[in-house]
Amino acid sequence: MEIKAIRGFNDILPDEIGKWQFVEETVREVFEGFGFDEIRIPILEKTELFIRGIGEATDIVEKEMYTFTDKGGSSLTLRPEATASMARAYLEHKLFTFDPVAKLYCIGPMFRYERPQKGRYRQFYQIDAEVFGVANPVVDAEVILMLIHFLRQVGLEKLELQINSLGCRECRPRYREELRAFLSKKSFQLCEDCQRRLQANPLRIFDCKVQSCQETIVDAPKVSDFICKECDHHFNRVKEHLSMAGLEYVLNPKMVRGLDYYTRTAFEVVSYDLGAQNAVTGGGRYDNLFQEIGGRDIPGIGFAIGMERLISLLPKNKGLKRPLDLFIAVQGKDGKQDAFRIAHQLHLERIRAEFDYEEKSLKSQMRRADKLNARYVLILGEEELKKGRAILRNMANQSQEEIPLQELVQILGRKILRD
Ligand code: HAM
Repeated sequence: MEIKAIRGFNDILPDEIGKWQFVEETVREVFEGFGFDEIRIPILEKTELFIRGIGEATDIVEKEMYTFTDKGGSSLTLRPEATASMARAYLEHKLFTFDPVAKLYCIGPMFRYERPQKGRYRQFYQIDAEVFGVANPVVDAEVILMLIHFLRQVGLEKLELQINSLGCRECRPRYREELRAFLSKKSFQLCEDCQRRLQANPLRIFDCKVQSCQETIVDAPKVSDFICKECDHHFNRVKEHLSMAGLEYVLNPKMVRGLDYYTRTAFEVVSYDLGAQNAVTGGGRYDNLFQEIGGRDIPGIGFAIGMERLISLLPKNKGLKRPLDLFIAVQGKDGKQDAFRIAHQLHLERIRAEFDYEEKSLKSQMRRADKLNARYVLILGEEELKKGRAILRNMANQSQEEIPLQELVQILGRKILRD
């Protein structure tokens, strides 16, 4: 029986790869321009990192992690996100000794055992950016500005930036109790999962998709009404700086984010073109994460963009597959070796050239050139070859000219650049 890929794990096929490469190149250009450096972190980590980093009472840790015991008996987990791993790497390699401020990004696959549907997969890719070591609200605004600039650079429009403040260790416990008290009175309306969440982590109830839970939470107290003076001041400065940069945002007091490490600023970018899974990006500040995983008091802020969702929103003209520059067609038996030699010469010059490995009629070679969308076809005819010449056909307008083979690289180079 034919073996198929695992449910929720996708192949990214050559036809789509241009879009992925375009996005990745734009990430590098934009993020590096904002002072970020790339970091690459392992896909597997000790399970403990995510339990302590993301929080035990989150959906990710409770039910979505790919966790297994390796042959040495250690509990390992395929990373469900990158923030905790990046923070671990920053601590482990003492990156703060060079400069306390680190601006890092990474691109790669994440794994969550969620129910697959459009826009939600079990292996999905994230573009992740983090700033470690700055508590100042100016950096919150700067990170959001970079994110929006990047999304515009790849051609995304009709996006909405939603922001909220989730408070801190001082003020959030008070809010949590208030919320618990409010929801306890209506607990009979909550689904089984939320009845449990009510005790363990009532903020998670905001994320529940069950209709009766959504209705119950409508009038619930909002975290923004409970934040302390310092958190309020921080949030006002973030908003001021966003406005100063001319960025529009929507306040969403119900946005709580699905990971426990967040403090103060939280944000999401949603697209109304995406359907149910409409968040392209999620992020925020996490001033206690480092204490949870390593005992150091280091603030942090960042975001992650879901690449599949981003790519599904790209304009059609972005990241097109690179066309074939030249197809070499051979007339007669002796031209094969010339085709091989010329193709190799062109490959060294990074000109995409193809020829038929098997002997075929000229008609069938032209059909293949057409199918492969070749921009030019070089026809190696016996008579012309004797004179060191060949026919170059422009497939867009069907015009042809005879050219000296010695000048092929220069001629093609000029034409390809010009078109
Ligand atoms: P998150 O909200 O869990 O945050 O994920 C960020 C983005 O990843 C989502 O907005 C979505 O686009 C994409 N995403 C999440 N799960 C899936 C899935 N199953 N299939 C496809 N796309 C998905 C985080 O991961 C945080 N680490 C973000 C962050 C970085 N916060 C601070 N720094």
